[in-house]
Amino acid sequence: MMSREQNDQLSRVGPGTPMGRLLRRYWAPFLLASEIPEPDCPPVRARLMGENLVCFRDSKGRIGLIDEFCAHRGVSLWFGQNEECGLRCPYHGWKYDITGQCVDLPSEPEESGFRNNIKLKSYPCIEKAGLIWAYLGPPELQPPPPALEWTEVAAPQRFVSKRLQECNFLQAMEGGIDSSHVSWLHGAELNSDPLFKGSKGNEYNEKDRMPLFEVEEFAGGLLIGARRNAEGEKYYWRITPWIMPWYTIIPPRAGHPLGAHAWVPIDDETCWAWSINYHPKRALTKAEVSAMQDGEGIHVKYVPGTFIPLANKANNYLMDRAAQQHGHSSTGVDGIAMQDASIQESMGAIQDRTHEHLCATDKGIVMARRMLLRAAKAAAEGGAVPATDPAAQRVRSASAELAKDVPFTQGAKHGLYAPLGTDPLSV
Ligand code: FES
Ligand SMILES: [Fe+2]
Repeated sequence: MMSREQNDQLSRVGPGTPMGRLLRRYWAPFLLASEIPEPDCPPVRARLMGENLVCFRDSKGRIGLIDEFCAHRGVSLWFGQNEECGLRCPYHGWKYDITGQCVDLPSEPEESGFRNNIKLKSYPCIEKAGLIWAYLGPPELQPPPPALEWTEVAAPQRFVSKRLQECNFLQAMEGGIDSSHVSWLHGAELNSDPLFKGSKGNEYNEKDRMPLFEVEEFAGGLLIGARRNAEGEKYYWRITPWIMPWYTIIPPRAGHPLGAHAWVPIDDETCWAWSINYHPKRALTKAEVSAMQDGEGIHVKYVPGTFIPLANKANNYLMDRAAQQHGHSSTGVDGIAMQDASIQESMGAIQDRTHEHLCATDKGIVMARRMLLRAAKAAAEGGAVPATDPAAQRVRSASAELAKDVPFTQGAKHGLYAPLGTDPLSV
């Protein structure tokens, strides 16, 4: 059983906390590039790991991520004007460039040099795969840009969305690691959702609700193998990679695109649930993209003009008791993403893990927690942490029917470490 102290260590992400220090060692996706579409466009508030920041694209197209509050008297620079390579505070006109340096201070004579000592905190950003990523860690330990497979494919092969999730990132991520819930929670969706239906694997999922888990460490994190009985003296394996510190890739079904997630803490009690579909070999079809835009699969419909799901905590996720009663859905909540989110948010803002009773299907979760704590210790000592090396991130999920005596890491190896541009290994 987990102690309160361990639970805190794993879930708190503010500056100076063990997990906060670890997570700051990685590039964190926090905005869609389309949220700051062009030079001098309006700035965007960006709370990340408990820090209030503001992000803007300056006149030269460079991205700035700086303290949200003006160094003068604390006005939110979200109200600022993005002009001539800087963000100008509307209160008394102090202006900051993308490094947080004050570059104009109209109320003081320039000769005084006063403004030279005014600098807001700032973090480096990059733009990749249609997202803006920030690095909040020590400058000397900044890793190369992320190289997960979905960040490497051409734009027409990828669809990315984000939604606000009202709970700690860890319990959300643990939902991504634990694929044993799929037969229950998403059972009805497997055969109806356009992005999941038509896979032989769905039958195996339905028939065998007691998957056996085998978990193996790899350079980037964990490979979580869920084994179910299949036809012809074989096992059906679903292999989910968990890549440090917050990425999961869902095993494929039939010829559908792969699904992936990133669970990035906004603060201790909320996170961005990034949902990615990509196909390593082909462009997504029109029908696939329109289903994704429509909130099918792992995506959601929004409250207009926000990233808040239309079905959310405040409206009880539009739960349909009749659908639950008639067995159309185990929760009465519509759609895979909100089934996950509703269940995970129901655990409380931060799940109290001192009361849980883990069982055999939670093996992946146990190992991931252990790995996070180990890495947090390394980060606290300024040492190396796993999966900052691009090569360690190049793994893909897979589903396969394998002979009973073949270990999954061996039988599915060619699918897990497939070169770019090849079809997923899928059932
Ligand atoms: S508070 Fe920003 S310029 Fe005065
Ligand atoms: Fe799920």
